[in-house]
Amino acid sequence: MRVVVSGGCGFLGSHLCEALLRRGDQVCCLDNFSSGRASNVAHLLSEPGFVCTPSDVTQQLRVNVDVDAVVHLASPASPLDYARHPLETLAVGSRGTENLLRLAVRHQARFVLASTSEVYGDPAVHPQDEDYWGHVNPVGPRSVYDEAKRFAEALTMAYRRSQGADTGIVRIFNTYGPRMRADDGRVVSTFVSQALDGEALTVFGDGSQTRSLCYVDDLIRGLLAMVDTDLPGPFNLGNPSERTVRELAELVLRLTGSDGGLRFLPLPVDDPVRRRPVITRAREGLGWSPRVPVEAGLRRTVAWFAAQSDTSVRPPAHSPVGRSS
Ligand SMILES: NC(=O)c1ccc[n+]([C@@H]2O[C@H](COP(=O)([O-])OP(=O)(O)OC[C@H]3O[C@@H](n4cnc5c(N)ncnc54)[C@H](O)[C@@H]3O)[C@@H](O)[C@H]2O)c1
Repeated sequence: MRVVVSGGCGFLGSHLCEALLRRGDQVCCLDNFSSGRASNVAHLLSEPGFVCTPSDVTQQLRVNVDVDAVVHLASPASPLDYARHPLETLAVGSRGTENLLRLAVRHQARFVLASTSEVYGDPAVHPQDEDYWGHVNPVGPRSVYDEAKRFAEALTMAYRRSQGADTGIVRIFNTYGPRMRADDGRVVSTFVSQALDGEALTVFGDGSQTRSLCYVDDLIRGLLAMVDTDLPGPFNLGNPSERTVRELAELVLRLTGSDGGLRFLPLPVDDPVRRRPVITRAREGLGWSPRVPVEAGLRRTVAWFAAQSDTSVRPPAHSPVGRSS
């Protein structure tokens, strides 16, 4: 298959490009490097099936090859990133999604949208299955991301219903692993880099809020399954194993051997209190479920962060918009 991956230089995108190449697909990666890094795909540049084109997907797309599938991952994804780039976040969720849907329709290609658990907002039901419509504050600081993804889902379904497009939607829950940016403000990258620096881990509120963390390799298997099916979804992709943020912090301290301790900060606005995916639909429809336990995944993540020589990027001590993604 020839697969276009938007956002292919980001955390998830670079792992997806790698996995597609590994199974023999050809990959055309589009990225504007706003939160992604060329270094994430540098090791792929010598692969014959890989092309990386600097490209803002909200502008006119230039893809001059045949395309069998389009996976749309481009978007600021961490609360810090979308707080810094609110208009770009709305643009890539709306114009960017439409440009990529048009590309897919033109080539009669499969289109997969990377949506998010944030479409559920601060959920009023727990755990969350795909039939839950969400509890989103449309004017809150996180709304640019949540509503952009909700719009992107609506647009995807409209193209499916009105244009006969072969579309699929996955709602990704918190995913972690190698190639996260130390300064992205997300819970795992922040805790791990703070612990490796011997700093106190910054916990919002009393740390009793929960997160369900999926290791990146598991998530990528789910994305590949979504490329290969013609099912529309939406499918939750995430690990239902739920932990409090405080438990996660203590686990990271243990795995890194850090004695930096914890530092408690006020809970940010609209920070979701509980998140856990119901993955029955993905289990049954895609034959997918996560395999990597949190402790094993965190060990691999810690090892990767520890091996990075670039220690110039440090996480901010405190993100005012939270860190659930
Ligand atoms: N990582 C998670 O836990 C998680 C959870 C839910 C949803 N998602 C979704 O998965 C996708 C990838 O997330 P990630 O964690 O890899 O984030 P990331 O920031 O590492 O990757 C996003 C990539 O998109 C690129 N990009 C942004 N705007 C663009 C534009 N206009 N044109 C071209 N490229 C653009 C960035 O440069 C970056 O490489 C996002 O759509 C995100 O919403 C991720």
